Amino acid sequence: MPNSKEYIEFDVQYGAHNYHPIPVVITKAKGVWVYDPEGKKYLDCLSAYSAVNQGHLHPKIVEALEEQLKCVALTSRAFHNDRMGLFLKHLLDICGEGFDMALPMNTGAEAVETAIKMTRKWGYEEKGVEKDKAEIIVCENNFHGRTTTIIGFSTDPDAYTGFGPYTPGFKVIPYDNIEALEKAITPNTVGFMVEPIQGEAGVLIPKGGYLKKVREICTVNNVLMILDEIQTGFCRTGKMFCHQHDGIIPDVMTLGKALGGGLLPVSAVVSRKEIMKVFTPGTHGSTFGGFPLACAVGDAALDILVDEKLDEKATTMGELFLQKLKEIKHPRIKEVRGKGLLIAIELTEKARPFTQQLIDKGILAKETHDYAIRFAPPLVIKEEEILWAVNIIKEILGS
Ligand SMILES: Cc1ncc(COP(=O)(O)O)c(C=O)c1O
Repeated sequence: MPNSKEYIEFDVQYGAHNYHPIPVVITKAKGVWVYDPEGKKYLDCLSAYSAVNQGHLHPKIVEALEEQLKCVALTSRAFHNDRMGLFLKHLLDICGEGFDMALPMNTGAEAVETAIKMTRKWGYEEKGVEKDKAEIIVCENNFHGRTTTIIGFSTDPDAYTGFGPYTPGFKVIPYDNIEALEKAITPNTVGFMVEPIQGEAGVLIPKGGYLKKVREICTVNNVLMILDEIQTGFCRTGKMFCHQHDGIIPDVMTLGKALGGGLLPVSAVVSRKEIMKVFTPGTHGSTFGGFPLACAVGDAALDILVDEKLDEKATTMGELFLQKLKEIKHPRIKEVRGKGLLIAIELTEKARPFTQQLIDKGILAKETHDYAIRFAPPLVIKEEEILWAVNIIKEILGS
């Protein structure tokens, strides 16, 4: 069996260099722990960018997958299957008031693309915007995925440079800035797409009341409020969805990551029938979107969130983690911030050397951009595991 170094060499030789991973090879995982080929154990504090909220290989999700494999895995949407409709109903029940129709896809970026297409078509057919004039407003430092349309409105040069020409029809405004939103809206504005917390940008949390104001402005101007909850959704921030902290309901929500329970790419757009009706046969689709295996896994993934009260766990464990991290005082720590179990330490110097030290001591965490380290463990993490991690973080950052 190859060792870690050899596995990495295979990646480097045969895989495109579109990532700069931390040099750890994972061969096994269970709950909050992952293992390398040499048997070293790490606490996973990234959770595959919040796709593993339920913990690695949750037995009930694995069982659901195995059971479904005895029936049918893939049908395509050329036919109906016995899983999709029930799964979407389950998802919409969890989304609650304001959502009565869903469109399943696979990756987060596809869900975002779906939301963009839907919003534009709604703009033409319902709002009466002139053909090809629809505008969608987005925020600086956004992260919504990697397709050519999406990177065209990214403000991160690494994400967009060299991939033009970019799709027109997007306007970028500062995040957490209500005046900028009000100013940017024109009669052609069909949607405002925003993350309730900007995860990839370094866990940037808007001021209290921001989403409420956004909701009001979107309503007054007949603009769809599109919330990208792909990273913040499914209990990560202490509520089933992050916007529930603000008591608002968006018009459109993009979901992904933990919807697949850490096993499969499962994403969806949820909205209202009066908006989603703009999709008619032939206008959108995906071979795998809504495939029975994904629906079985998605159903189980949703059940775990509810049955194990992962929203409450994220709240209590998140408060403990955040409070303990805030107690670490050192000039190189600029700020510690977070909501639920989506936490970041922002440093005054580059974070990579510290993430490397954390790895050496058995904590898998990754910097977001250069100066922040994100801590987002699976929501099934226990108190003693947090305290163990805090001691190591203190040893490394405090010294
Ligand atoms: C907020 C947000 N939107 C969209 C995406 C894209 O999801 P995917 O990588 O599954 O395409 C991500 C991924 O990190 C994300 O955090």
